[in-house]
Amino acid sequence: MIGAEFDRHASGYDGGLDNPIKRLMGSSADQFIAVKARWLLRREKALRGGTLALLDYGCGAGDLMRVLAGLGARAAFTGCDVSQGMLAEAAKRWPEQAGPLPQLEMQDGARTPFADGQFDVAVISAVLHHVPPSERPAVYRELGRVLKPGGRLYVFEHNPRNPLVRHVIARTPIDANAILLDAREVRHGLLDCARYDLETDYLMFMPPALGFLGGIDRALAWLPLGAQYAVAARKL
Ligand SMILES: C[S@@+](CC[C@H](N)C(=O)[O-])C[C@H]1O[C@@H](n2cnc3c(N)ncnc32)[C@H](O)[C@@H]1O
Repeated sequence: MIGAEFDRHASGYDGGLDNPIKRLMGSSADQFIAVKARWLLRREKALRGGTLALLDYGCGAGDLMRVLAGLGARAAFTGCDVSQGMLAEAAKRWPEQAGPLPQLEMQDGARTPFADGQFDVAVISAVLHHVPPSERPAVYRELGRVLKPGGRLYVFEHNPRNPLVRHVIARTPIDANAILLDAREVRHGLLDCARYDLETDYLMFMPPALGFLGGIDRALAWLPLGAQYAVAARKL
């Protein structure tokens, strides 16, 4: 029962920062999230305009939406998750100055309560490695269903090709049941369920704590060794 598993981690959820190596790379979970949020804002400039509908699938404690808002994103935010505890935490952490509280909805397994083609942008960050491989196609189908034609889907995941990532994940309690997947698996999984234009960027070559070295990260985005990757998919 994955929802129940994350209910136990909800209060004080910090994205696995109890791992000492991860703590060396960044002093707060928000520093790690900000790397993805900045990358997303560079690709989706319209996120600052307040008109896009954005779904954060498996939003957990809502940290990505909150950090995005802190960096100036003004979208119609919606989050969903299989864990009621994580959704409650997301509501608790949302600061008033970030704008209206996102709509927060429970998933029924992979399934969400949203209409077909409801979202301009969908994001799924650090979720798929918690989903058993046999259940991943249902997640890809659901993301394809709720995205508008022309909508963009962004999949952020830990990169199993990076040895430090494998070391950290194997020693982090919230990742006890994690099965990492590479960008190729994500691309194939997506294309099995819908038609997309796909691109892949690798992220986090530099520790997030050294944010001023972000230019190096951008120059290396083609190299499949960053700690994270982002698959960007535009639905045709
Ligand atoms: C490591 S947390 C990541 C949370 C958030 N996306 C972030 O980046 O901070 C993984 C989240 O995926 C959620 N989740 C959603 N659907 C899931 C599914 N089908 N199987 C496993 N976990 C799922 C979990 O409940 C949990 O909140």
